[in-house]
Amino acid sequence: MMHYAGEPAVARVAERIGVPYGLSTLGTTSIEDLATAAPGLRRWFQLYLMTDRVYGAELVERAKGSGYDTIILTVDTPVAGRRHRDVRNGLTIPPQLTPRTLVDMALHPRWWVNLLTTEPLSFATLTSTEGTVADLIDRVFDPGITLADLDWLRSTWSGKLVVKGIQTVDDAALVAEHGADAVILSTHGGRQLERAPIPFEILPRVREALDPRVEVFLDGGILSGADAVAALCQGATAVGVGRAYLYGLMAGGEAGVQRVLDLLADEITTTMALLGRTSVAALGPECVRLRD
Ligand SMILES: Cc1cc2nc3c(=O)[nH]c(=O)nc-3n(C[C@H](O)[C@H](O)[C@H](O)COP(=O)(O)O)c2cc1C
Repeated sequence: MMHYAGEPAVARVAERIGVPYGLSTLGTTSIEDLATAAPGLRRWFQLYLMTDRVYGAELVERAKGSGYDTIILTVDTPVAGRRHRDVRNGLTIPPQLTPRTLVDMALHPRWWVNLLTTEPLSFATLTSTEGTVADLIDRVFDPGITLADLDWLRSTWSGKLVVKGIQTVDDAALVAEHGADAVILSTHGGRQLERAPIPFEILPRVREALDPRVEVFLDGGILSGADAVAALCQGATAVGVGRAYLYGLMAGGEAGVQRVLDLLADEITTTMALLGRTSVAALGPECVRLRD
């Protein structure tokens, strides 16, 4: 949806700089094609469990077969959030042709020529794809997943297992008890529930409550290297980035993603230098100023 170069462009940048990349169940590149595009990448697969569990099991098998080392199970999307803007903007598959879309075409001819002359956009892992993304989520995903599903996944997947979308200390502890190697404190970038707890605020308590072997990641609003360092100071093992790299992808394809990652790396270095810290291990809560 962002750029015709798609996930392979992002994966190649991640491969180059040595960070993992998580391919979504809703990706427009298949599990296998991504592995071919970036063979040296540390590949993670983000799984949504569907009502058809057999299909979920197949996806896990395919990820295993294509050398993915981590499954991220996203649990904050039992149903789609109210995404009014997607409806208003006609963000559907296929896109709606409204008078506004036609005006947009006239204003951005290069973008539209590119869209119409490159391979048509489609989900690679799902076949039932009519309507908005929210329509799709509500039709295909299972709104009733429980800890029993996590147990099942743990028993079928021997690689790293990460649960994404954790929003309370208790839930973090529960999924860790049920075999998660890591949690991602996340509210889906604020795309699901407007008033969900803020990951950055619960981070120190989650870190304290979990066994040190369980890693705690955080995402949501990491738009600069300073944001990433602040999360590390508060106890995160690492951060996830969504929109920041997508902006780069939209602006400049693979080179745009590379530029964003270079900026993030530079900002991390500058922030650490200004803090007088020479290693991530030396970062701590004393390095962050929080509002009272
Ligand atoms: C366009 C878009 C699509 C997303 N699709 C998924 C998805 O398919 N699965 C998922 O677990 N999270 C998805 N997310 C949420 C991201 O994984 C991540 O939690 C969020 O973007 C982090 O916040 P940030 O964008 O502020 O960095 C999506 C986010 C965006 C912006």
